[in-house]
Amino acid sequence: MIPRAAQSRPGVRIARHLAAGAVLHALLGLPGAPASGLQHEGHVMATDSMGVVWRMPPQPIPMPMMLPGLMGAIPGVTPFLPDPGRDPAMLPEAVFREVVKMADRDTLRLEAGFVRRTIGMRTFTMYGFNGQYPGPLIRVPQGAEIVVLFTNHIDLPTAVHWHGVRLENRFDGVPGVTQDPVEPGESFMYRVHFRDAGLYWYHPHHREDIQQDLGLYGNMLVDAPAPDYYGPANGEDFLMLDDLLVDEAGLFPWGREAAIQTLMGRFGNQLLVNGESRWETTVRRGEVRRLYLTNVANTRTFNLVLEGADLKLVGADVSKFERETFVSNVVLAPAQRYIVDARFGEPGTYALLNPIQAIDHFNGRFYPHTDTLGLVTVLDEPVTEDHGAAFSTLREHADVIEDIDRYRAEFGRPVDHELELTARVGDLPSDIVAVMALDTLYFPPVEWTDAMPMMNYLSTSENLTWVMRDTRTGKENRDIDWRFTAGEVLKIRIHNQRRSFHPMQHPIHIHGQRFLVLSRDGVASDNLAWKDTTVIPVGSTFDILLEASNSGRWMAHCHIAEHLEAGMSMVFTVAPG
Ligand code: C2O
Ligand code: CU
Repeated sequence: MIPRAAQSRPGVRIARHLAAGAVLHALLGLPGAPASGLQHEGHVMATDSMGVVWRMPPQPIPMPMMLPGLMGAIPGVTPFLPDPGRDPAMLPEAVFREVVKMADRDTLRLEAGFVRRTIGMRTFTMYGFNGQYPGPLIRVPQGAEIVVLFTNHIDLPTAVHWHGVRLENRFDGVPGVTQDPVEPGESFMYRVHFRDAGLYWYHPHHREDIQQDLGLYGNMLVDAPAPDYYGPANGEDFLMLDDLLVDEAGLFPWGREAAIQTLMGRFGNQLLVNGESRWETTVRRGEVRRLYLTNVANTRTFNLVLEGADLKLVGADVSKFERETFVSNVVLAPAQRYIVDARFGEPGTYALLNPIQAIDHFNGRFYPHTDTLGLVTVLDEPVTEDHGAAFSTLREHADVIEDIDRYRAEFGRPVDHELELTARVGDLPSDIVAVMALDTLYFPPVEWTDAMPMMNYLSTSENLTWVMRDTRTGKENRDIDWRFTAGEVLKIRIHNQRRSFHPMQHPIHIHGQRFLVLSRDGVASDNLAWKDTTVIPVGSTFDILLEASNSGRWMAHCHIAEHLEAGMSMVFTVAPG
């Protein structure tokens, strides 16, 4: 393979004759170079007109060696920061989100704009919906339809997608598929109809690798009419899980013309809950808190553990589970939601943790790593209304079971469509490509953290393509255009290729419809819930049952923002039944 990149893209400067061993070490993580790339003399530092410069990406673990060939290498696109000419001190400080209770036919004005955010001790120029972080929490009764008058006051075109909501196609907010992007200064009116109870979220669907990362996301909670739809709880918390990549100089730049970090997606080094570096709450002994969890990170999959609490898994993306179950941890990939009841039996201070297995490619080993996301103080005072008995009873949700019963006859149907998930390398330097190919011998089913920040930094949506391939037609990504009719039910098999260039898990999201995960690697699911996003680990095969119920032209894609930017999306059309 000819490394066109090294010649044609002035930004990418990498020695092309490195010994394979050296390259392997390089992949494995590069040298902790000084944060300011300006110190690398002899390398062209791409700057945008506002003077934003690339610098070496922060390293998750200290890397033992320096690789001269990759030193100072930069992505082949210009760096982007939001409004770099503006002093954040001149911006309004974002305020914590408001709960906006809305009824059928109510109107919400929603504005994407610049805000000043203070995270920890640091101040950044970021984006916010209505000056809030996260965006307003929209709470509506099931069946309501609201009008959202959206205005774009940021410096990029955008559009708002109502993730998981089975609304009318033209309001789905996907530029290029359902609408034109909303240019800076312009507006768009959305009508959002909430037909399913549960937890949803909204976010931009245009360069979301930048916009969502900078704070444009918010939750929606749709309340079912039945007061006992969920079991009893003493309170609720909405936790939006995220991460942000920062270094000494501030926010780490994004790619302007195209996304960077398309290999693994952009992992942040600062974990956030609701935009803050720590979630804190106080409960009484015996209290049951309902936790509404949403992963809004670009690529990070969380593994949540809540010390000192019993956890009961109640609901997923678009419905409750058939049966409640007690769990020890909750794994959420980007865009996924879970509804979990937590009961705190003993007084004390407990942490919300993200324990993961990180990978050290350099030494060929996994190592445990734990981040603390929050702290819960349990007072030694009993809760006034004790729901302990109800909590310890696992409910069966007859409404969900009956709804799914209508589809059980289709569980055994033959596979209607098959997708394979893989990657294709374009202009990445050939030595690196060769060594990455050797490196598939040992791989994690889920990448929990960025183990190769330098390689990731140099990959863009121009030199790496992530692929969804229809194995029967050979069509890929946006060339796939499946045709369904409303009322049809389809079995789709999705296989995540292990032998691809740096395989990775993919959270696959289907717009406008709902689906069931029937089986994973041939093992049938024994407790179903309706979903809009499911994460396929490396090497795995999932069979899903898609209910094509909502007409229109819809997108399906990987919800790792950088994989979406790097091609991993397709469209399908549902004709009215
Ligand atoms: Cu959450 Cu296509 O989006
Ligand atoms: Cu992906």
